[in-house]
Amino acid sequence: MKKILVTGGLGFIGSHTVVELQNTGFEVIIIDDLSNSSIDVLENITKITGTQPAFHNIDLRIKKDVKNFFDTNKIDGIIHFAAFKAVGESVQNPLDYYENNIGSLVYLLQEMRDRNLDNFIFSSSCTVYGQADELPITENAPTKPAESPYGNTKQIGEEIIRDTCKANSLNAIALRYFNPIGAHDSVHIGELPLGVPQNLIPYVTQTAAGIREQLSVFGDDYDTADGTAIRDYIHVVDLAKAHIAALQRLLEKNNKTSFEFFNVGTGKGSSVLEVIKAFENATDQKLNYKIVGRREGDITAAYADTTIANKELNWKTEKTLEEALNSSWEWQKKQL
Ligand code: UFG
Repeated sequence: MKKILVTGGLGFIGSHTVVELQNTGFEVIIIDDLSNSSIDVLENITKITGTQPAFHNIDLRIKKDVKNFFDTNKIDGIIHFAAFKAVGESVQNPLDYYENNIGSLVYLLQEMRDRNLDNFIFSSSCTVYGQADELPITENAPTKPAESPYGNTKQIGEEIIRDTCKANSLNAIALRYFNPIGAHDSVHIGELPLGVPQNLIPYVTQTAAGIREQLSVFGDDYDTADGTAIRDYIHVVDLAKAHIAALQRLLEKNNKTSFEFFNVGTGKGSSVLEVIKAFENATDQKLNYKIVGRREGDITAAYADTTIANKELNWKTEKTLEEALNSSWEWQKKQL
């Protein structure tokens, strides 16, 4: 059984990926510092898969702890999720973001280099494209200067990995996520935002649940059919499966170059108003919302061209937006 280290494995995307890894027959070791996750997730993963993954509470900024982990564990591949991810917070505290997101990446790669480990999957983001000039966005679209320190850590992270792949024996794949939403069908795991949600879907579900009074729709004067901004919302389980496909590509040595990157989305763009309607239809809830001004830093539209990911990863999304929204709602109801 191949052993896979999943950093940030108790987080939103990490926990769903752990489940898919276990279901595919991998042995999973999780590293998580619980800074934005709960230890209960470990138990909930176990409820789904029947096997409790190994867990280490390690802060990846502490180099000696990272070294000690690798000294005492033999692993065949790494999926690296652990990172701070709040765009607004990163503007307030850029150094925390650079220290955590870049520091932990460098320490992991150093340990991999020193042991000739070579299979690495990196959580990247479509934010590297900024507002792309052409839609849908292909992997050939140029990257643009990051809008936030958070986005910059994803760009710099990719560059660090690219350089390391050139210099050392590393093989790596960066997955550029579009907008992950939804929860596991079992309703045992889902998204657990801290405080007031910044992202659309948790705000929608908390509003429907009565935790928030009203959803603010940020801007209806964009150059889109209904004036609201367009994103590509992907079910987190579909996204998790893309990680398994990418990992298998590396383990089977099917990668074409030592560093590759793929767009992971559905290929379909939905406006904020379309999301609200789809949520209302899928869940029979009426959503209280109002249109307000644009949110600073938001782009007009982003959705993926999935041709390359579909072909190279032999992967495609299976779930609809309605299924994803419905699972988010089921998850929300369980949190009440
Ligand atoms: N939106 C609202 N009201 C809200 C929250 C969001 O109208 O209360 C709108 C946003 O303006 C945007 C859309 O819903 O048009 C989606 O917003 P999210 O915050 O859910 O997602 P973003 O596309 O802004 O952000 C996501 C990830 C970030 C990443 C970014 C890069 O959450 O991690 O994509 O494109 F950096």
